[in-house]
Amino acid sequence: MTTGFIRARDVLEGGLSPARTRELDRAYGNEDLLYGLELLGVAGPFRSVNPWELQDEQGVTRINASGYAATPFGEMDPELTAFIRDFMEQNRAMGLPQQSSSPWRAALQANLVRLLASQLPSHLDSQVFFCSSGTEAVEGALKFAKAARPDAKFTISFSGAYHGKTYGSLSLTPNAEYQDIFRPLVPGAVHCPYGDLDALEALIRRIGPDNVVAVIVEPVQGEGGVIVPPPGFLAGLGSLCRHSGILVIADEIQTGLGRTGNWFESAAQGLDPDIITLAKPLGGGLTAVGATIVRQDIYKKMLGGLSSKRHSNTFGGGALAMAVGLKSLEMLIDADLPARSARLGAAGLARLQQLQGRYPDLLEQVRGKGMLQALQFRPMLGVPLFGGVRDLVFEATSLLALRELHEARVMANLSLSSKRTVRLSPALNMPDDLYGELFERVEQFAARNPRSGDLLRHTPPATLARLTSFAASKPKSRVR
Ligand SMILES: Cc1ncc(COP(=O)(O)O)c(C=O)c1O
Repeated sequence: MTTGFIRARDVLEGGLSPARTRELDRAYGNEDLLYGLELLGVAGPFRSVNPWELQDEQGVTRINASGYAATPFGEMDPELTAFIRDFMEQNRAMGLPQQSSSPWRAALQANLVRLLASQLPSHLDSQVFFCSSGTEAVEGALKFAKAARPDAKFTISFSGAYHGKTYGSLSLTPNAEYQDIFRPLVPGAVHCPYGDLDALEALIRRIGPDNVVAVIVEPVQGEGGVIVPPPGFLAGLGSLCRHSGILVIADEIQTGLGRTGNWFESAAQGLDPDIITLAKPLGGGLTAVGATIVRQDIYKKMLGGLSSKRHSNTFGGGALAMAVGLKSLEMLIDADLPARSARLGAAGLARLQQLQGRYPDLLEQVRGKGMLQALQFRPMLGVPLFGGVRDLVFEATSLLALRELHEARVMANLSLSSKRTVRLSPALNMPDDLYGELFERVEQFAARNPRSGDLLRHTPPATLARLTSFAASKPKSRVR
């Protein structure tokens, strides 16, 4: 046995202390990320006291509005975990069926397509390909589209988009921080302003419709800071592409299955896409499930006849993942969580709008759709800012806001493609009173920080000094 080998049961029984957890996580994992989170006091590890609240090692309990839209039932939902316990005891179907049939995969495929067809009847005979993350679902979508239009060279995405960080999805995520060091990216990725139909039309005309494989679009941009497109944009995009023979990929990884208050946000906004990607909530906050749903004729272009092995993976469609997905979808349907998300989300957004009116020097804007909401902060230095300094100040503003929200006992998300925005994405089944309490606490946070400069003032000088040297240091040159 290797010296220091950590046994699974020891971890299960709490044998790894919080301090030791951080130490090992930093030593053998993404050290700098964890160090930054530690400086902000938000590194955890956290344990759930109920599905919606997390506790740190000091015993402070916070409402969890983080989870990056991937925890529709919060942590360890009792109905979901009870089902998985039964699955573990009773299931005898193969764990990783890959090249054989599987009842779990069969059932989830059928349910997903029927659910989609209930909103978009043209998808009645669509087919599903499963994988293990959002970015992989996007990679699948890009390959399906390209196989259906092999002579076309360009794929269009939008400014502020986030589609993931593997090469194909990264190429369509126009964000210099994530892309620049990796150039050259996958060729043929072009970008267009989000929400601007005229610009899209002009771009397609310039490239030539026959040379465009697909347009990939988030029906509401999540990581971009909860950007809802202008009315008619998605419907217009759909008819523009249909008339030009261009495929439409709706990336519903963040918006889909209820987060924005609809089963499929694209359908709700009048778009009937050819390909739809899903992931986050399908895994019930417990495991990784990604899905690419594709019209049959397009599906067959990539996976037809002997070429049906052209795209594959080992874990997609695995029994445990499919069982979690099947049960999660059932729970979303049984409780009609999209409707709940629309109702609670509207009430939450109204409170945020009032707050923005009261604290305009802290909150520049608030936005939301369903239970996906964004607080956009004024930069904490009230002087004109440019270039890299501007980016740094924007980012620092949202980091310190995250820290202050944490102090107010709210756990929130950063936005990966919008530097001064913090998002709230609580569980869709969060009880009404706790959901109300979440906004009480956001109000307390705002009252303590009426101007964004207060975020700076409330950060202990030692923390600020360490954060500044962390931001300025090169990897490995940091002194702890
Ligand atoms: C719209 C969208 N697409 C793709 C992804 C990537 O998903 P994952 O992080 O599972 O790879 C995300 C993640 O935030 C997303 O919001």
